[in-house]
Amino acid sequence: MSTSKTVAALNTLLNGELAAFHLYMQASAWCAMNHLDGSRTFFAKHADEELVHFGKIFSYLVEVDAPIHLTALPEPKVAATSIDDLIEQVRVHEQHVTRRSPNRSTPPAPRTIIPPSSSCSGSSPSSARRPTCSARSTIVWR
Ligand SMILES: [Fe+2]
Repeated sequence: MSTSKTVAALNTLLNGELAAFHLYMQASAWCAMNHLDGSRTFFAKHADEELVHFGKIFSYLVEVDAPIHLTALPEPKVAATSIDDLIEQVRVHEQHVTRRSPNRSTPPAPRTIIPPSSSCSGSSPSSARRPTCSARSTIVWR
């Protein structure tokens, strides 16, 4: 791969990390609105990880004196009806991002993430917006 293609691929990756941060923070906000404190923390931590990834790529591009091009972020749309629905939406998004990753000729090994069991604690059982969820949710990202 030529240097310019590598820089372009790294810029694509860089913007993807920022978009993932944005999406995870919106998912965290959805959890906060639905009084799912464990899930809010879970998604916020994932958002932080994406920002760390962003920072590493950014620093590398600066280190090698490569041009950095940040693009507009897509609006992260989270219209979940339950925590399970939210997790499914995030899974589909991750699958989409993985397929778009540069030089991804084969899918990565499955990665299982199990949010803490406290992630399903709702504080308002009578609330019409209270999501339903199982005690533990498992996401398998491919
Ligand atoms: Fe990432």
